[in-house]
Amino acid sequence: MTDNVLAPDQIQAIRDRVADLMPQVRADLESLVRIPSVSASSFDQSQVARSAEAVAALLRAEGLDTEVIVEGGRPAVIGHLDGPQGAPTVTLYAHHDVQPPGDEADWDSAPFEPEERDGRLYARGAADDKAGVMAHIAALRAHRGALPVGVTVFVEGEEESGSPSLGTILAKHGDRLAADAIVIADSTNWAIGSPALTTTLRGGVRVIVRVRTLSHSIHSGMYGGAAPDAVTALVRLLASLHDDEGNVAVAGLDAGEAADLDYDEARFRAESGLLDGVSMIGSGSILSRLWTKPSITTIGIDATSVDKASNTLAAKAAAKVSMRIAPTQDPAAAYEALRAHLESHAPWGAQVEVTLEESGSGFAADAQGPVYDEARASFKDAWGVDPVDMGVGGSIPFISDFAARFPDASIIVTGVEDPDTRAHGANESLHLGEFTHVCEAEAIFLARMGALRH
Ligand code: BES
Ligand code: MN
Repeated sequence: MTDNVLAPDQIQAIRDRVADLMPQVRADLESLVRIPSVSASSFDQSQVARSAEAVAALLRAEGLDTEVIVEGGRPAVIGHLDGPQGAPTVTLYAHHDVQPPGDEADWDSAPFEPEERDGRLYARGAADDKAGVMAHIAALRAHRGALPVGVTVFVEGEEESGSPSLGTILAKHGDRLAADAIVIADSTNWAIGSPALTTTLRGGVRVIVRVRTLSHSIHSGMYGGAAPDAVTALVRLLASLHDDEGNVAVAGLDAGEAADLDYDEARFRAESGLLDGVSMIGSGSILSRLWTKPSITTIGIDATSVDKASNTLAAKAAAKVSMRIAPTQDPAAAYEALRAHLESHAPWGAQVEVTLEESGSGFAADAQGPVYDEARASFKDAWGVDPVDMGVGGSIPFISDFAARFPDASIIVTGVEDPDTRAHGANESLHLGEFTHVCEAEAIFLARMGALRH
């Protein structure tokens, strides 16, 4: 550990500055959160444009040369400020788009009206990932007028929609994102009071599977018993995706072992909200099930609704299936495995059509070297305890594009979330005490990077 590049009083001075900055950081976070920047196409995209402009204004106020760019997708923001001659460059990533709020009735306060309760700030995007945006801005403010490194800030507007135009953005503007270190503030910490570096993420494959058994729907009394209905056929097909223990039963998927952190069933049950009497699924360590083995979830079904049901055999049915894959598996190979399984397990000869909706790579960091040393030291400075290396079962697919484009850059995955954040769900929230530590750690990291001599 090179935890000697900064003197203790320099570290304390940064922490004090961040403490002074937090009220304004919080106010700016609340303003961003009030903009419902849902990138899903069924939502009003002028809000995503507004949110990009709001982020750009915050960066310009810190003196960054800033541009909003649109390359066929949602607007992203790129800002840059040079550091001292010879200092390293750090690229800071976050996203300003959010997931849809879902059913507002499930929220205890309005999704786009931030509200503090018990030390947490509740709203869609209060954590994922507008607090990531504000952590970067807080770090810049902590070094206002004397930035120790060159900084490029890249705030994407379509992460929650799978970053469709990121390839074009990297092709056209990628040179501007080159850096010695890339900080991706879009992940989680291990627990309250226990920071983490995310060193692996799973990849993902999403498909739509359509099943047909009849040329048209028919009377269930006249034909039931001899003709299969498409909904039952679909359900049987979906059921074939897991074995009786709940392990994914698709051949050809990779699986690895997760880091050996202390994580037991009681904690899993409490954090996931698993109901009493419902068992866990899968086998092996819990963390390997979450981080390094595949998982498959049916996330939507098209079938006649209960309300509209008539006594018929349905001719067709469809499901959307989301598969998470091991951090290092090629998503194209994983898709082939899933497609082959679905096509070969069609019950009763039902016609099965599989279409790929989206896929993205996972990530496994080479989590060592001087930049990682400084990142770990920064976390310790901020929290007073060493960070853990953890995996995450979710995905940030573009990280692999960054890694391929900038093979020499160290990619550090941080974030503002904690196990109770409920990102994407109702009552998403940010733990404000932990958020202060995230801002401190990032400000200290920039100072440590500036003090690193090549
Ligand atoms: N911030 C999440 C990724 C994440 C999830 C980090 C869980 C830590 C814990 C990110 O915004 C996200 O949700 N990604 C999507 C990617 C998809 C839309 C391609 C995901 O994992 O579903
Ligand atoms: Mn996110």
